[in-house]
Amino acid sequence: MFNAEIYQNRRAALRNKVGDGLILILGNKEAPANYPDNTYKFRQDSSFLYFFGLNQPGFAGVIDVESGQEIIFGNDVDMDDIIWMGPQPTVREQAALVGVKESRPFSKLTELMQQAVASKRKVHFLPPYRYDNMMLLEELLGIRASIVKQYASLELVKAVVALRSVKGPEEIIEIEDACNAGYEMHTAAMRLCKPGVKEQYIAGVLDGIAASYGSMTSFATILSQNGETLHNHDHSQILTTGRMMLTDAGAENINNYCSDFTRTIPVGGKFDNRQKDIYNIVLSCHDKAIEFARPGTTYQQVHLSVCKVLAQGLKELGLMKGNIDDAVAAGAHAMFMPHGLGHMMGLDVHDMEDLGQVYVGYDEETRPINQFGTSSLRMGRRLQEGFVITDEPGCYFIPALIDKWHAEKMHTDFLCYDAIEKYKDFGGIRLEDDILITPEGSRFLGKKRIPITIEEVENIMNE
Ligand code: GLY
Repeated sequence: MFNAEIYQNRRAALRNKVGDGLILILGNKEAPANYPDNTYKFRQDSSFLYFFGLNQPGFAGVIDVESGQEIIFGNDVDMDDIIWMGPQPTVREQAALVGVKESRPFSKLTELMQQAVASKRKVHFLPPYRYDNMMLLEELLGIRASIVKQYASLELVKAVVALRSVKGPEEIIEIEDACNAGYEMHTAAMRLCKPGVKEQYIAGVLDGIAASYGSMTSFATILSQNGETLHNHDHSQILTTGRMMLTDAGAENINNYCSDFTRTIPVGGKFDNRQKDIYNIVLSCHDKAIEFARPGTTYQQVHLSVCKVLAQGLKELGLMKGNIDDAVAAGAHAMFMPHGLGHMMGLDVHDMEDLGQVYVGYDEETRPINQFGTSSLRMGRRLQEGFVITDEPGCYFIPALIDKWHAEKMHTDFLCYDAIEKYKDFGGIRLEDDILITPEGSRFLGKKRIPITIEEVENIMNE
């Protein structure tokens, strides 16, 4: 948790951006796994964390835009709780830690909201993503749970996005802390990646490292020697010489800030020539992104420039042909990279995705491009100092996609299908780092960069 002043300033800035009414920010509750007392690890709502800082279940925060009154709603523990959980600070004491003077029992939230509704005051709330909060909003505001999301306040969404997009120095420290845990996770994976080892074993070790450095992984670890499947959560295989292991994993630190890295490494520690060729193309895409990313450039432009680097490299290898600008404009490169270059990162690994990706990654000036591959770009808008984004190009050979496009004669002016057919057993490569937009350009986050060149990767794998 940061000091109270940080939360007070954030709430004051939010109040300035929202015209009138009440701002309601709901925290999360415990989520049962298989029976009520056996819960998943608690994860607080990120906007609640950002404005109210308290990392316990069962809170809500209200800001009265006109009067400036701030209230935290939550229940003090009773004797039963103390017996099972130990003594806990009161809600009032916790509220004081984040600079909120007033607290009330949770049941009083209904009263306040019903008064607001009766007096026709606006109640701004964010789009709920948990069903219990949808039901709570129904109780509080009288809007059916199934449709309450449609009534979320766009004004509040835009205000929250504007504030959370630009990371303060105190947040960069936290993100770097999560990146340092990510470094430990990925270097452990490199040391463990040997023929005969189970993917699940390495994935489990990574989860343990994330937990030991902070809180947990920032998302379910992706780890597989079938790296052509973009988000492969199946860890059931035994690593085999000649394949590559793609690991996309990150940590969430103790204050819930995230990291997200990907490395693709040869099982057994030596890249073959075909792997080296594709790997070096992806690496130059990755390095180009950091060279292009700077305040004033849109990430959509960076994405498209990187796609041209990819297409040029594949043309030199005989997998693509024709004019590169035309190939990328037509979307032919998306056979090899059917995803975007990156996304915002912060308290969420896909930062603020619950608020609506189009409001986070796009604006009136930069609109999403509705073309296969580029339509998956989560972050397109103009970069500003303080943005934290991922740089994650990839090159994949997805047999089903190759078969489909080949059968449909898609982009035959740009794709060399006879050569591509020979790569159907290749798998996929993705390389990802987290970057901060600085006044001059961008920089990698984390104390040490996870080995990434072929030489660095082979060295650590063969230590
Ligand atoms: N690194 C996982 C993702 O971006 O979805």
